[in-house]
Amino acid sequence: VQVDKAGHKHFMAKEIAEQPAILRAALEFYTDPKTGELVLPEEVDFRDCDRLVMIACGTGHYATQVAKYWFEQLAGLPVETDIASEYRYRQPVMGARNIGIFVSQSGETADTLAALRHMQGNVAQTIGVINVGTSSIARETDVSLSIHAGPEISVASTKGFTAQILVLLLLALKAGRDRGTLSPDQVRGHMETLRSLPSLMAQAMDQESAIEMLAGRIAESRNALFLGRGIMYPLALEAALKLKELSYIHAEGYAAGELKHGPIALIDKSMPVIVLAPRDALYDKTISNMQEIMARQGPVILMSDEAGLSEAGEVWASLAMPTVPELLTPFVYSVPAQLLSYHTALARGTDVDQPRNLAKSVTVE
Ligand code: G6P
Repeated sequence: VQVDKAGHKHFMAKEIAEQPAILRAALEFYTDPKTGELVLPEEVDFRDCDRLVMIACGTGHYATQVAKYWFEQLAGLPVETDIASEYRYRQPVMGARNIGIFVSQSGETADTLAALRHMQGNVAQTIGVINVGTSSIARETDVSLSIHAGPEISVASTKGFTAQILVLLLLALKAGRDRGTLSPDQVRGHMETLRSLPSLMAQAMDQESAIEMLAGRIAESRNALFLGRGIMYPLALEAALKLKELSYIHAEGYAAGELKHGPIALIDKSMPVIVLAPRDALYDKTISNMQEIMARQGPVILMSDEAGLSEAGEVWASLAMPTVPELLTPFVYSVPAQLLSYHTALARGTDVDQPRNLAKSVTVE
């Protein structure tokens, strides 16, 4: 397929902008048009599953870490996530009632494929969550689900990530339904909630010019720290990965509660700290960590919704996110993180779509 930038300066910009449409289409694909019910292939069945093991590399790994919260919370399922290059060389304990999920945009990552072959035959089932349907991982997993993101050209994954977490969320809803932790009505309610996702993603993009201004400041820094709690923690990890890949600024993601166990030593006025804190159950905890940073002159950029921003008081900079149902926060907070790394890269003049030393698909070990 011939893919062009559709009027955008970079593939990355195009792929960020496409997300509302892609997520809408992917959601439609997995929804019964008549009843609005979730539809997944029949073989996907979590009733006898006693443990889920999710394996991936890079951005896909962070997608599995986001999904871990959902599988635990919605389906009460024990979950393990691992990096493929580690899993393939361990002697992991595999159980006949385990299900393995392999997340890969390309479906060709050598380590992920090797990890799949390591697990195949030792567990009840392997499921692929893949963008390229003809790929090796799509073919070798017992069941393969497409994320329907369309070709992703930019090396740094954006729409691939949000489409991956969408399919993983649908799997978690299915697991909840299979295991009786969610009633059919609750699943229907969550599917209904998901229908507002495309417009909320589009709304998050309205912050682009504010983000561009902030990116000019971040571009002058040598380091940056991203903090989040709960499901915002893996999002902080993914945001840091994106910033370092694109702008070559050293960035780390940290669980906000771990701040006191190390990274707080790094805080001074030259260390921007981006805090991802929707007004959820963990908000107060995250904000108190944020205050510890401010007390040490760390410039804080707070990403939160209207209630969260007004309760937080004065910060160095803030990014106003739409107020969204808790289920949708990982999707919506991905957008400012993507735009921040994009604009920081532009400000630094780096090669946005093809960062140095990186490859889109890593088919060698
Ligand atoms: C490379 C890409 C990343 C991607 C990772 C895993 O490092 O640059 O964007 O997340 O590989 O790739 P996969 O195709 O398996 O998702």
